[in-house]
Amino acid sequence: MRIIVCDDYDGLSLTAAKMIASQILLKPNSVLGLATGSTPVGTYNILMKMYADGETDFKDVLTFNLDEYYPIRDDNPQSYHYFMKEHLFSKININPSNVHILNGTVTDAAAECKTFERLIKKSGGIDLQLLGIGKNGHIGFNEPEANLNAGTHLTKLTQSTIEANSRFFENVDDVPTHALTMGIATILRSKKIVLLASGEEKQHIISSLLEGGISTAIPATMLKVHPDVTIICDRAAYKGV
Ligand code: PGA
Repeated sequence: MRIIVCDDYDGLSLTAAKMIASQILLKPNSVLGLATGSTPVGTYNILMKMYADGETDFKDVLTFNLDEYYPIRDDNPQSYHYFMKEHLFSKININPSNVHILNGTVTDAAAECKTFERLIKKSGGIDLQLLGIGKNGHIGFNEPEANLNAGTHLTKLTQSTIEANSRFFENVDDVPTHALTMGIATILRSKKIVLLASGEEKQHIISSLLEGGISTAIPATMLKVHPDVTIICDRAAYKGV
C-alpha cells in the first residue's frame, strides 16, 4: 500500500481529484467505483470544478457506487442516490445510463446484487475504486465480522456504523439497519484502489490498518493483498508509524 500524507483536507481532496482526473484522461471511458460519506465530498467538488473549467470530461465514464441503504427510496435525501446526484452527477456531463447505484427499493435484494455484479463484469471491471473508511475499519458496508462476504450482498449495519451515520439523519432510529454493498472481492477486483481518510477520528483505524496484519475484524486490512492501493490521508488522520 502506498500512502500519501497531505497537509489538510483540501490537499487530500485535490490529490484524490487529480488521480481520478488522470485516470479519465488516460482512459476516457474509465469505470469508476465511487463512495459516499463526508470524506469524498471535497474530491467531488474539485472534480465538478475541473469539469466546469473544461479540464475533465465525464461523457464516456461509467460509475458503480459502493453501497446503498436498504430499504430506502432514491428521493430520500439520505439515500446514496440522492447524495451522488447532489454532490456530483447533477454538476457534470455524465450519461445517466452509465451510472449504477444499487437499488434500495427492490424486494429481491439478492437478484439486485447479482445484476450489479454482472454489470460490473460486463463493463470490463472497475478501473479505479474510491473508498472511505469507517472508524471500525469497514469499507463500503463490509462490517467487521468473522466471515466477510465476497460478492455484492445485503448486510446488517453494526451499531457503531448506525451511530456514526446518524449525524446525517434527524435521529438515530431513522438510520436504516441494513444496506446493499459491494463485497470484499468486488472491491479487490478493481484495478486500482484509492482510500481516503481525514481527521483525527480516523487516526486510530489508519494506524491499525498500516501496522497490523490482515483480519476480518478490520475489513480494510483485506486491501493489503491488492497490488495497487493508495491511501490518501491528511496529517490529522496519520500520526506516523
Ligand atoms: P465518512 O465515512 O467519509 O463520512 O467518514 C466513511 C465510511 O464510513 O466509509
